[in-house]
Amino acid sequence: MSACEIPLIDLRAQHATIAAEVEQAVHEVMERCDFILGRDVGAFEAEFAEYCGVGSAVGVDSGLSALELGLRALGVGPGDEVITPANSFIASSSAISFAGATPVWVDCDPETYCIDVDAARRAITERTRAIMAVHLYGHPADMDGSLALAGDHGLKLVEDACQAHGARLNGRRAGSLGDFAAFSFYPAKNLGAYGDAGMLTTNDAELAERVRTMRNYGQRRKYEHVTMAWNRRLDTVQAAVLRVKLRHLDTWNGARRRHAALYSRLLEGCGLTLPQTRPGVEHVFHQYVVQAPAREKLVAELAERGVATGLHYPVPIHLQEAYRGRGMRRGSFPVTEQAATRLVSLPMYPELRPDQVERVAEEIRSLVAR
Ligand SMILES: Cc1ncc(COP(=O)(O)O)c(C=O)c1O
Repeated sequence: MSACEIPLIDLRAQHATIAAEVEQAVHEVMERCDFILGRDVGAFEAEFAEYCGVGSAVGVDSGLSALELGLRALGVGPGDEVITPANSFIASSSAISFAGATPVWVDCDPETYCIDVDAARRAITERTRAIMAVHLYGHPADMDGSLALAGDHGLKLVEDACQAHGARLNGRRAGSLGDFAAFSFYPAKNLGAYGDAGMLTTNDAELAERVRTMRNYGQRRKYEHVTMAWNRRLDTVQAAVLRVKLRHLDTWNGARRRHAALYSRLLEGCGLTLPQTRPGVEHVFHQYVVQAPAREKLVAELAERGVATGLHYPVPIHLQEAYRGRGMRRGSFPVTEQAATRLVSLPMYPELRPDQVERVAEEIRSLVAR
């Protein structure tokens, strides 16, 4: 943690509220010693599938694996294009690349920072196989628009729900809105493990079965390998922790929403662009992201005053060095590129106290007023 008095996130504060429950759950795994695909993995898959309102959930070792294995299970591979926003964490695109396909980037909506569906429509070619929408910062992407577009062109629709555990769109949970969805349980997520972990959710039982096989050396039955595949299993100890934490997720998301509402009330009219929530959306505020024209100065001055901030994300995916071979230039996606220079994430975690939100807002108001 930084020296800041108000951190961006405080995992220790959360652990303190559930330590006894987590220790008991982990202790039970130690007693059973069912470390690999043990009881808690199957139980957590069933509970998370029910929570999301889907038929199947398959536990894997990360959000990246859920995306990559899901794409492979859809049959996406070399020669295929997958349309996805340039404004996301790189894993959305690297999963497409690891599956052997090509990420085709598009700009984002200026209000939600999620995929711009009109831009996606313009990016469709005869090679397009799928659209991957990302529910960035906990706000579901325009899935009605994405579904209509996918339907019109016979494309698959993938949800990157790695930042949107528990979010809803028109009453339906993120994770139940496309052909499959991927969740990350990286510790800082709304539902975070005590290490790396991930999950794929889907209503397609056959797709789930293919991913189940792929995560476990291509095994259908013990020592019967039907495909060449990997070890991408969800760890039993992590599943035990996640079962405990899932019981608290709705309460924690409620706290995040209250903090967000307070930030928005206190920061209104101060000259920053505040997050918007579209009708029908239940936002889960994985991040509370504002836009500040003089971002670097604000971030430095807030740090001096003991307030930590984050940048999600300072370099859009199409301009990352890892993708320099694609030859993309600055100017390709103006909304994404301008946002990358202005976005600031404010402290956001369920255990944040209202007086801390007030402190952050006061510091920002006094700094931007100068
Ligand atoms: C939008 C998005 N996609 C994919 C991932 C990848 O998840 P993981 O870190 O569990 O591989 C993350 C998180 O790290 C993410 O935020």
